[in-house]
Amino acid sequence: MENKIIKGFSKFNKEEKIDWIIENYLDNDTSQKEFLKSYWHQNSKTQQLHDEFIENTISNFYVPLGIAPNFKINDKVYCVPMAIEESSVVAASAKSASFWLNRGGFKAKVVSMIKVGHVHFAWHGDYEKLRVFFEEIKQKFFTETESLTANMRKRGGGILSIELINKSDLEPNYYQLMAKFDTCDSMGANFINSLLEQFAQTLKNELLNDQSLSEKEQEVQIIMCILSNYTPECIVRSEVSCKVEELTEGTDMSSDLFIEKFKQAVHIAQIEPYRATTHNKGIYNGIDAVVIATGNDFRAVEASGHTYAARDGQYRSLTNVEVKDGVFKFWIEVPMALGTVGGLTKLHPMVKFAYKLLGNPNASELMEITATVGLAQNFGALRSLVTTGIQKGHMKMHLLNILNQLEATNEEKKFFIEEFKTKTVSHQAVVELFNKIRAEKAIG
Ligand code: MEV
Repeated sequence: MENKIIKGFSKFNKEEKIDWIIENYLDNDTSQKEFLKSYWHQNSKTQQLHDEFIENTISNFYVPLGIAPNFKINDKVYCVPMAIEESSVVAASAKSASFWLNRGGFKAKVVSMIKVGHVHFAWHGDYEKLRVFFEEIKQKFFTETESLTANMRKRGGGILSIELINKSDLEPNYYQLMAKFDTCDSMGANFINSLLEQFAQTLKNELLNDQSLSEKEQEVQIIMCILSNYTPECIVRSEVSCKVEELTEGTDMSSDLFIEKFKQAVHIAQIEPYRATTHNKGIYNGIDAVVIATGNDFRAVEASGHTYAARDGQYRSLTNVEVKDGVFKFWIEVPMALGTVGGLTKLHPMVKFAYKLLGNPNASELMEITATVGLAQNFGALRSLVTTGIQKGHMKMHLLNILNQLEATNEEKKFFIEEFKTKTVSHQAVVELFNKIRAEKAIG
């Protein structure tokens, strides 16, 4: 296909954008317009809201919202909303939640909630001189941002510290202003980035005003001002524990064998990055689904978690297990910068619903819930992996996807669900039986 290029696409209205892509990329197939419009919300105000979340919106992209009930966290029971497209994730979370409901539930706590941002700059001169200068003007970074921090300070947050960091051994003349923030119940990206830009301005002005410096030393090149999504001091921990014999109650597996394999599985994820990646991916199946449903930035949360998982130089599991004095303990410790105010949280209708369902948590409670779902997800995955294997449960949940691909009727779906209750689901087995039944129908 010929590459079609356009200038000013963003200036088109929504219908014009659709017309242009249909004409230039979709062989003038006008039925595509009807298709895209069929995904518009029936309420034009709600649709406009969605249109305005991003740029060049042409339609909506649905992801299911599922519910994992029975999550007992710090003695409170939650129905957790999860937005995710992958089958069996919600089921695994719900199953783990029920399992731990009868074994004391989850205990979660926020360890700290500090966010970080940097002014990255280049400066030519003697570091010691810069250090002395920085200490002299440090207070100005606080005073010159007072109007920007006033509201946050009223809520108990603000700038916690500003440090000068020398990185010139890694990149010539490279230094940072590294600042730490308490952003209370907001994720804080806009707050932090605005402050950093003001810090850069203050740095520039103060250098220029310092007559004791040479002309060269009065100059600074601000490279960039940006928060860091790595938040190793914004940490939440969630754990479960029970007596070892409670782990395999109602199954025919011995608890000793279960624990041995479970511990080995976690250890493998500690020492083997190939496995650690999949292990942590499963954790983020749960975490991301809650982060999306609650209108937070799952890319930021994941990026931070993966960096944290590699903090000692090797990528490792985010969960840990311990068995001591007959007690099994399994926990997660993970960075998570979440907000319950600002961003999409008060805008997206589904997000507003999610908050209502969770009882309007503040940021630290939401961190506890979200990390717990990650732990539950990992427990569920490991439990399946070291016992029945993952495919049995997964393919059962995937059955409807296969049937939908085959355009099965509701009646046929019912029949297949019944039929495969006691059989192993495989793509081939489902397709074969489906074709057989359809052929018989055609003859009959
Ligand atoms: C699938 O999305 C996630 C798992 O692979 C996680 C794991 O292996 O721990 C099941």
